[in-house]
Amino acid sequence: MAKLIYSAIASLDGYVEDENGKFDWATPDEQVLAFVNELERPVGTYLFGRRMYETMAGWETDPSLAEGSPASRDFAAIWQPAQKIVYSRTLEAVSTARTRIEREFDPDAVRREKEAADRDLTVGGAALAAEAFRAGLVDELQLLLTPVLVGGGKHAVPEGVSLRLELLDERRFRSGTVFLCYRIASSGNAGN
Ligand SMILES: NC(=O)c1ccc[n+]([C@@H]2O[C@H](COP(=O)([O-])OP(=O)(O)OC[C@H]3O[C@@H](n4cnc5c(N)ncnc54)[C@H](OP(=O)(O)O)[C@@H]3O)[C@@H](O)[C@H]2O)c1
Repeated sequence: MAKLIYSAIASLDGYVEDENGKFDWATPDEQVLAFVNELERPVGTYLFGRRMYETMAGWETDPSLAEGSPASRDFAAIWQPAQKIVYSRTLEAVSTARTRIEREFDPDAVRREKEAADRDLTVGGAALAAEAFRAGLVDELQLLLTPVLVGGGKHAVPEGVSLRLELLDERRFRSGTVFLCYRIASSGNAGN
């Protein structure tokens, strides 16, 4: 069965977006983006919350993004051919290929996607990821922690979810960003 991976770039205090809705501080440099590309390359399907989709769609609709650097070009080339499922009750149309809209997050449907897939899936967007965590669907957590404290905003990992994690990998980068990859070992009360 394919894995569902939640991957996020967060501040060291655990936010994907600050209180002003900004996340420019999370923009990966060339070294980190090249690493992200190796994480993304094997992924076959992206599950996106609508807000994350709207940010990421630029990698297909705005050619200037890919022109920024070799790693950006590579990222666009990896992102575009992947299948995308966007969760939204409001979005009327998508702007990218191989993309469908789902109006509800149905855990059983995602479970079936995992069973049928021969390549891993990722979930992007903290709000949507929280639903996947609550449904017990997330197998792996990948965090790129940026060396900045933003003091508040949107939590990268869901509140009210208790899980035991097993560290699978870690990496440090020249920028001070740190990568942490965990397997979800078990659900239940992590305090016990
Ligand atoms: N840190 C970074 O590197 C980084 C990178 C890119 C973007 N971001 C930003 O981080 C923010 C994440 O915000 P977020 O967590 O609110 O975004 P999100 O999870 O991507 O999107 C939330 C939206 O997804 C839809 N949704 C969620 N659950 C659903 C369900 N059960 N059924 C149907 N639709 C559902 C809803 O869309 P509707 O309102 O349409 O119904 C909801 O408003 C975004 O602003 C994103 O742009 C951060």
